[in-house]
Amino acid sequence: MLNGKKILIGITGSIAAYKIPFLVRLLKKAGAEVQVILTPAARDFVTPLTLSTLSERPVLTDFFNKQDGSWHSHVDLGLWADLFLVAPLSANTLAKMATGIADNLLLTTVLSARCPVLFAPAMDLDMYRHPATTANISKLKSFGYKLIEPAEGELASGLKGMGRLEEPERIFEIIREELTSGSVFRDKKVLVTAGPTYEPVDPVRFIGNFSSGRMGVEIARAFAASGAEVNLVLGPSEIAVDDPAIHVSRVTTAEEMYNRCMELFPGSEIIVMAAAVADYTPVETAAQKIKKSKGKKQIDLKPTKDILAGMGSKKTPDQILVGFALETENEKNNALKKLKNKNLDLIVLNSMKDEGAGFGHATNKVTLISAKGTEKEFPLKSKREVARDILAEIESLL
Ligand code: CTP
Repeated sequence: MLNGKKILIGITGSIAAYKIPFLVRLLKKAGAEVQVILTPAARDFVTPLTLSTLSERPVLTDFFNKQDGSWHSHVDLGLWADLFLVAPLSANTLAKMATGIADNLLLTTVLSARCPVLFAPAMDLDMYRHPATTANISKLKSFGYKLIEPAEGELASGLKGMGRLEEPERIFEIIREELTSGSVFRDKKVLVTAGPTYEPVDPVRFIGNFSSGRMGVEIARAFAASGAEVNLVLGPSEIAVDDPAIHVSRVTTAEEMYNRCMELFPGSEIIVMAAAVADYTPVETAAQKIKKSKGKKQIDLKPTKDILAGMGSKKTPDQILVGFALETENEKNNALKKLKNKNLDLIVLNSMKDEGAGFGHATNKVTLISAKGTEKEFPLKSKREVARDILAEIESLL
């Protein structure tokens, strides 16, 4: 959902700091990179060890690394981030941010940040209502910073009222909305298929292929990171997908994939068929393991249904249909035939002849051919980058 997005979290001295490790976990699960900065006071409320373990990065507080004397550059941090969240924000740091005081790493980084800054105050009721706090919040808003309003409820002091830090799940949603605002894929309903299918011969054997599912999963993640609602129909694959914005349906056979896809197809606006679907399946699946002694040397096969072709024949003008062609010879002609015969808007051609392309690699080398007649050849790239190129091409078709 937030694949590769870089998020800075600044934590200040407030009891609500205990909620931030949960937020870090949610962001990491969604694929974001998270860098935590603590003010000196924040260290009394939450440990750097917890946060560095969850964020998988050292947590920063000081300008200098006391062990090796190196400098933590607030300028680099400020430029690195796609989004800077200061949460919980104490009345003290709020006041300093409003006046531009820069006496710790968090504050200097705020001044250096070019990305959107979100701030989530958390303090006691009367501190929150104080005119100084109100004026400081208005000042931060005038800088273009976005306020995550505290919620009402029981406060650490025992008082009840406004001042509680929003729950991590809600802050996560606000971050996602902020990072995907302006994306053409925001709230689009997308269906992606990935992985191989396994066609069972008997209880212990199957006919399959070498697809890992990685290309399709990267496409699903790229769409989720752009704010789309993604359904991923995933064949047998080792890849764990736990992005909350991707709804995963696990299937095994071509028939199961067909059935699930056809259920989802009418409600999908963009469909990308990256799965390597078996073209044939055994006529019969033996109920018991086929014994060597029986001397059976042939398996009778029947064709599976072509999911993509089925969708192509039912496609409405406001649906975009993208297929893959993995070829070993006569690549471009074969891809063009599939583009036409299956009524696609775009086909992603990869050739097994190209080193590092196709099944089982972390990289891929593709040519994107559209029904409008455009053709773009890309160099060898990571599958994550290829996914971004495919999305950029789909965007140009919208
Ligand atoms: N595909 C599908 N259903 C099938 C077979 C393929 O939806 N039963 C889809 C794949 O997901 C891919 C595209 O069709 O997006 C092309 O798959 P490919 O195996 O390259 O082509 P085929 O049409 O099966 O033709 P051939 O195997 O003869 O190359």
